[in-house]
Amino acid sequence: MTRIPSSDITPEWLYRQRRQFLRSAGALGLAAAALVACGDATQPTTPAPTQPAGPTPQAAGTADERGDPLTDFDSVTNYNNFYEFSMDKEAVARVSAGFVATPWQVTIDGLVRNPRTYAIEDLASRFDQLERIYRLRCVEGWSMVIPWLGFPLHRLLAEVEPTAEARYVRFETLHDPERMPGQRDPWFTWPYVEGLRLDEAQHDLTLLATGLYGRTLLPQNGAPLRLVVPWKYGFKSIKSIVRIELTAAQPTSLWMASAPHEYGFYANVNPEVAHPRWSQATERRIGEVSRRETLPFNGYAADVAGLYAGMDLRVNY
Ligand code: MTE
Repeated sequence: MTRIPSSDITPEWLYRQRRQFLRSAGALGLAAAALVACGDATQPTTPAPTQPAGPTPQAAGTADERGDPLTDFDSVTNYNNFYEFSMDKEAVARVSAGFVATPWQVTIDGLVRNPRTYAIEDLASRFDQLERIYRLRCVEGWSMVIPWLGFPLHRLLAEVEPTAEARYVRFETLHDPERMPGQRDPWFTWPYVEGLRLDEAQHDLTLLATGLYGRTLLPQNGAPLRLVVPWKYGFKSIKSIVRIELTAAQPTSLWMASAPHEYGFYANVNPEVAHPRWSQATERRIGEVSRRETLPFNGYAADVAGLYAGMDLRVNY
């Protein structure tokens, strides 16, 4: 098992309380010293970052388990794919800035013994929030290293108890074209849907994220709850989830329905299988100048290759 830096980190609400305390004690200098400074991005060349006021971004770790440094907070929050708001990566933060993700409920149902609907606050307080530093490799050929805050999906699945018939997990994003203007685009079959095989969903690397850089998720990153599956292309990591359903049949994702000639259900990062229009052999790490080689399963092969034993990944891509 690859060692994933994983440590408890102060959740935002606790951070706020502590900051209030420190302020009244006149001890802000100490707090500032405890924060991790962010590096600077040379790429992308984003306009002035669009950020609501919030606590200073902080992460317990500074690099992933391969030693690759974190992508800076401004790039992580200003270079986004979230088609519900905009197809322009550098506009998503601005267009989504007014999106309010409270109140929010997430339903887990389908082939489970205990179907439940959780308020987002319950999910965040019920399961310990851990920091997990993962590489995110977008199918478009760029990548980042992000310190997520969240909890393994298997903890939630254990609570609802999948039945013996459950073989897949289907995830659905909020469908609300009033609040998500990109959903008026008729080319896509909304809502955004993604799926995993049950054993992929139960893998310890599969995370439900509630935050990044020690802060609650911003709208552009999938507030208030998104999936992170680090060995698959980024489009599998569905944002702003409202429903998780256990099924017997393989779910059809938005991308399988909209672009069936591109990727299929699995979408594991694979430098040997090209996209129909470009190679996947290399990638541009945001903040770096030269391209780097793309690793099988995005560098997580030791952890996850066993899930696909006996499968031809050139056919099941
Ligand atoms: N989830 C929804 N609902 N809508 C989207 O457009 N884009 C995906 C994924 N999740 C997307 C989504 C893609 S293509 C990528 S690369 C990642 O989100 C980007 O996550 P980030 O913007 O937080 O880096």
